[in-house]
Order: sequence, then C-alpha cells, then structure tokens
Amino acid sequence: MRKLSVWLGGAVASLALTATAHAACDVQKPGYELTGDEAEEIYDCLKADLQAGYQKGPKRWISEDFVKDYPDWTKASAFPAAPGFHGGRFLVTYVNAIGADEYLKYKPENVTIPAGTRIAKESFAVNDDGKVSRGPLFLMEKVAAGKSPETDDWYYMMVVPNGAPQAVNVMTACSECHMENFGEQGGLGYPVEDARIR
Ligand code: HEC
Repeated sequence: MRKLSVWLGGAVASLALTATAHAACDVQKPGYELTGDEAEEIYDCLKADLQAGYQKGPKRWISEDFVKDYPDWTKASAFPAAPGFHGGRFLVTYVNAIGADEYLKYKPENVTIPAGTRIAKESFAVNDDGKVSRGPLFLMEKVAAGKSPETDDWYYMMVVPNGAPQAVNVMTACSECHMENFGEQGGLGYPVEDARIR
C-alpha cells in the first residue's frame, strides 16, 4: 500500500474538477465525521438524482448497457464509505452477475474474476462544511485474456455526474494505482472492511 499516498495527490486534484453541487442533501456536519448510517441517509437523498445524472446523454466509447444496467446488479457496499482514495469520496460499488460471486469473497490472493465481469462504483463527496456534491461513476470491465495485458485485462472508464464519458489516461489515472497496490488481489481494491456486503 506504500504507493497509495503518492498517487493520492494527483488523483484528488484531477477528480476535484468533476464534482457537481447538490445542496438539497447538505448536512450540518463535516464529511469526515459522518457515521455509516448518516452516509447512507445522504445516499438515500441523492441516489435518484445521482443515477439519473449518470444516465444522461450519449456514452460514446462506453457501453450504454453498462451504465444503464448497473443499478440492478449486486451491491457490494453496505453503506457508502470514504476510504480516502478516489478523491476522498463516499463510494458505493455494484458488480454484475458474472463477477459477483468471486468479487464478494474479497479474496486477498488467487482471485479468478471471470472475463465479462463489470463493476460500477458511484461516488459523492461531503466537504468539511457538510456540503454534498455528486461525483463520477467509476467503471471497470474484465476483458478476454490477452486483450489488454498492460492493465491485466481490465478496462477502466469514467462518467462524470452530468452523464458525459470522461477521457482519462487509463494507465496513470487508474491502472497503475490498482495494479501496484492490489496486484495480488486481481487489481481489485474492494470496499473498506466494515462496508463490505458478504
Ligand atoms: C489512488 C489509487 C487509485 C486510483 C488512481 C484509482 N483507483 Fe479505483 N480504487 C482504489 C481503491 C483503494 C479502491 C477500493 C476502495 C473502495 O471501493 O472503497 C478502488 C476501487 C475501484 C473500483 C471498484 C472495484 C474494486 O477495485 O474493488 C472501480 C470500478 C474503480 N476503482 C475504478 C477506477 C477508475 C475508473 C479509475 C481511474 C479513473 C480509478 N479507479 C483510479 C484506488 C484507486
């Protein structure tokens, strides 16, 4: 996990540009003091608008189905948790039927996640004044073996809160952090322990 702190700076800086204020769900508490239940209440307030935003407009190089279908997949997060990565955001993770069994084991090694696995991670932020903003939707897809060896056959994609696909340098913005820190566990970071649904 040594490299995480190094990556964090750059990741936070670039992701800060992709937040959209959502005053209706603001709270009277700084984000870092929220309990899991309180984060879940904010998510309940935000969820419909968050998901409707991601759905807007053409997805171009990202599969339309990926973004349309993910809310019906298996949820891996019991409540939105903010592990300090992905721009200090609260995260909610969904996995499709192909990958759910293996992902929900949260294995530290010998992970055999099948090709065709798709994972979507919603995000929102609560700043030190309790102001809520919608964040990007982060996507990972496991593709056929050998299709993208430099990313361990993961495709990484991102959709900003207004639904636009966001072009990123997949290697430096996504894959290097996942591979260097979670290479042993198939490139998967998993939700923080307390927030995992098993
Ligand atoms: C600074 C390191 C870092 C960078 C950079 C990063 N991630 Fe992650 N990612 C993580 C961590 C840590 C987790 C697990 C934390 C959680 O979900 O609570 C994670 C989890 C995920 C997940 C859920 C699947 C899993 O691994 O458990 C997706 C999807 C994801 N990231 C996509 C992306 C995309 C797309 C990018 C680039 C735009 C990206 N990530 C950049 C650290 C990073």
